[in-house]
Amino acid sequence: MDKHQHTRLYFLSICIGSIALVFAISRCSISFFDYSLQKLEFSFPESELRRSFYNAGDENRAVDSRDVVSQQILSVRSRNDTLQSKPEKKKKKLNRRRTVEVGLSKARASIREAASSNRNATLFSVDLPNAQVYRNPSALSQSYLEMEKRFKVYVYEEGEPPLVHDGPCKSVYAVEGRFIMEMEKSRTKFRTYDPDQAHVYFLPFSVTWLVTYLYQYNYDAEPLRTFASDYVRLISSKHPFWNRTSGADHFMLACHDWGPLTSKANEDLFHKSIRVMCNANSSEGFNPAKDATLPEIKLYGGEVHPQLRLSKTLMTSPRPHLAFFAGGVHGPVRPILLDHWKQRDPDMPVFEYLPKHLNYYDFMRSSKYCFCPSGYEVASPRLIEAIYSECIPVILSVNFVLPFSDILRWETFSVQVDVSEIPRLKEILTSISDEKYQSLKRNLRYVRRHFELNDPPKRYDAFHMILHSIWLRRLNLRLT
Ligand SMILES: *[C@@H]1O[C@H](CO)[C@@H](O)[C@H](O)[C@H]1NC(C)=O
Ligand SMILES: *[C@@H]1O[C@H](CO)[C@@H](O)[C@H](O)[C@H]1NC(C)=O
Ligand SMILES: *[C@@H]1O[C@H](CO)[C@@H](O)[C@H](O)[C@H]1NC(C)=O
Ligand SMILES: *[C@@H]1O[C@H](CO)[C@@H](O)[C@H](O)[C@H]1NC(C)=O
Repeated sequence: MDKHQHTRLYFLSICIGSIALVFAISRCSISFFDYSLQKLEFSFPESELRRSFYNAGDENRAVDSRDVVSQQILSVRSRNDTLQSKPEKKKKKLNRRRTVEVGLSKARASIREAASSNRNATLFSVDLPNAQVYRNPSALSQSYLEMEKRFKVYVYEEGEPPLVHDGPCKSVYAVEGRFIMEMEKSRTKFRTYDPDQAHVYFLPFSVTWLVTYLYQYNYDAEPLRTFASDYVRLISSKHPFWNRTSGADHFMLACHDWGPLTSKANEDLFHKSIRVMCNANSSEGFNPAKDATLPEIKLYGGEVHPQLRLSKTLMTSPRPHLAFFAGGVHGPVRPILLDHWKQRDPDMPVFEYLPKHLNYYDFMRSSKYCFCPSGYEVASPRLIEAIYSECIPVILSVNFVLPFSDILRWETFSVQVDVSEIPRLKEILTSISDEKYQSLKRNLRYVRRHFELNDPPKRYDAFHMILHSIWLRRLNLRLT
């Protein structure tokens, strides 16, 4: 081979390599992290974990695990950000910060105006054709437009994959990885590399991967907390942004059940930062004014299950069953449901575990209503599966802040039943008129778009709705 051939071969291999890499990234699935994460694997006596969590003061921490985590994982990635000190640069920086705040004020004013001038349908009917599912469609449409125009997220570069800058894109916690990967893409419109132009700062670690790689199956979440507190310490000592607001314009995002537990690692992270989590239990410190609920979207091999894809047959499929449930008995609500309804009524198939010869999604697609009781945690992927299968969700949970509930009127496409009313479930469901049911179903079919992940993301889809939840919370924040 002569020199030319060598060069050509070299180029060719680089090209093939890049194509493979782009493919791997855009599919959001890196094969060697290809775990099939089942929620049940992480079930554990909660009281055990809580006890060890509350008892472990700072001084009791295992120094070794902290050091291992800090040194091996939090190695600085690439950039050399030394704080600029020249007065001229400082001034420019201040101006950029002021521009950010002025932009936010303008956005607030225009959203307020849209909210009060209310119901000029021509303004939002193209983007939001079904106005009745929204609390205030005109405010939402304005706020969304403002977000598209202005919103910028700074993604911290510290830390290394897989714990940071990566996440699961399959199975129950897929939304965690899909969001992280989307923000990591350098061309994401909402990402800025200039922290002085950012509205919010993202801590891009994955709680699911923390559990996968650091958890020792000993009922002790300490390595997770150690990691999170180290991460905050690292970014708050290296950059000025965290200290400026005590983390209030920072956000973390986790679908794993242990998201809240991990966020307890740092007082400010828990109480001040925006926490975007599937496990949104308002009696465990979830604060809807600053925190946002992440929809738990289960994906099979990175895709919606074939039986749940949008189709005409779904709309017309006959629904002989009144209501359906199958699932493990755990958490505070399910035992009550199964106690009253397990294989009691032929109209309402309720199972603990579905017998092998029966198909779960066939039941969802052939039932009018699907029970969505809380399990170990308030959230469950069943809720989104019910939306996908056009089976009206019957939400049975306590203290669960529903996803996007500050924007969506859940009562227009779901039924919420108080846990104390479980014995009356059949009576409640049969008393819903056919007209009302048809309207719930139409709306359910319509809101599906807000709970779908697309690659690349589409306007008003789950990725953008999550981003919009963060944008709204940032708008409520005034920096001094
Ligand atoms: C980082 O920046 C400092 C100050 O400008 C410089 O002295 C140092 O060599 C830089 N380090 C690297 C790795 O570029
Ligand atoms: C609604 O908005 C459109 C477009 O700005 C405007 O032409 C129309 O007059 C408005 N209608 C009402 C009732 O305010
Ligand atoms: C932020 O505050 C922490 C704790 O008070 C301090 O250790 C750190 O150096 C501060 N960071 C900066 C960039 O000044
Ligand atoms: C929500 O939090 C409360 C308080 O910790 C707890 O008692 C309850 O079981 C939680 N709900 C679920 C479904 O885990």
